Amino acid sequence: MEVKFLDLSYVNAPYYEEFSHKLKELYFNSRFIRSIECSQFEEEFAKYCGTLGCVGVANGTDAIEIAIKALNLAKGSQIILPANTFKATAEAVLNMGFKAVIVDCDESYNISPQALLSAITPQTSAIIVVHLYGRVCDMNAVMKIAQDYGLLVIEDCSQAHGARIRIQNEVRSVGSIGDVGTFSFYPSKNLGAIGDGGAIVSNARSLLDRARNIANHSLLECKPSFVGRNSRLDSIQAMFLSLKLRDLDAHNTHRIEIAKVYDKILSRCEGVVCPELPALDACVWHNYVIRLIRGLSGHREMLQKFLEIKGVQTHIHYPLALNKIPELKSHIHMLIHPLPNASNWDRDILSLPIGAHITKEQAEYVANCILEFSTRY
Ligand SMILES: Cc1ncc(COP(=O)(O)O)c(C=O)c1O
Repeated sequence: MEVKFLDLSYVNAPYYEEFSHKLKELYFNSRFIRSIECSQFEEEFAKYCGTLGCVGVANGTDAIEIAIKALNLAKGSQIILPANTFKATAEAVLNMGFKAVIVDCDESYNISPQALLSAITPQTSAIIVVHLYGRVCDMNAVMKIAQDYGLLVIEDCSQAHGARIRIQNEVRSVGSIGDVGTFSFYPSKNLGAIGDGGAIVSNARSLLDRARNIANHSLLECKPSFVGRNSRLDSIQAMFLSLKLRDLDAHNTHRIEIAKVYDKILSRCEGVVCPELPALDACVWHNYVIRLIRGLSGHREMLQKFLEIKGVQTHIHYPLALNKIPELKSHIHMLIHPLPNASNWDRDILSLPIGAHITKEQAEYVANCILEFSTRY
């Protein structure tokens, strides 16, 4: 059986007719930038996230950089972030001229609140949490720490569009909990565009206005007080994202169902640690990541090869924790704390196929192939 890791042509096919019709209209009305289509998507996405507003930007990395700049942090500030993330999170901090303080993750693969707490210094101004693999961080603990120490919180939601968590008896979407949320709409994301795209969401009007101004060459102020840049979500991406947003919850529900199939079969396998299935939709399963332990530890590449022969594509998110990425670890503005989890787990993690293109039968097949492999060890 063939099981693709990702199948964008399958996922995006249902939108083709409506999209091509709208594209034709856009092509001739030529509203390519800062159009009604852009503001319509921004409104829809803010409503979806439960935030006051949204600013569409060019990609998820820009979204973090612009969010950092919009927060107006003091010069020389330290920003704490997890070691287990896509390197864009750290790049954004370093490119904005701040110190990136790297801390460990816990069993959830997200930032460990204890590690976060122990990394706080008088120079710490902000925390970037990453809702990695689609799973919401322990935001109750993070927000308590932020409140106690007067820190700002950026939520990097690039892998968790639509994930929700209960905070003080209220169900909140990622992006609406901290001071500002950032998203990537890279094509493979839970909400993916047909090119690059990103967004910033917040409940603070002043922050949203500043972010929009930064992303538009600071042209929205008569007397600009800072140097801006160009980073905008264009009309084509906005139009496509509006169509796809309608199905985001259904796609996420399907991902949750696939995760349950993996969990049911793989929890029988002693050499595999399955990700926890959290209550509510606190995980929207951007990735389903298993970790090999006991006899299977150290055999990831063989398992990948075995699955490939069986027709199953897999990936690794991520092969190196941030402390091992050469250009980052040597950067003078990187401060790396002990990382017993992230730094050891990166050689034993494996991402299985998940998404709208995967059926329950395919997920059963993948999990059974892993069980078959495990009997050899
Ligand atoms: C956690 C995380 N942060 C940031 C980014 C950067 O997004 P983009 O590729 O749109 O710049 C990504 C994209 O993969 C991501 O997964």
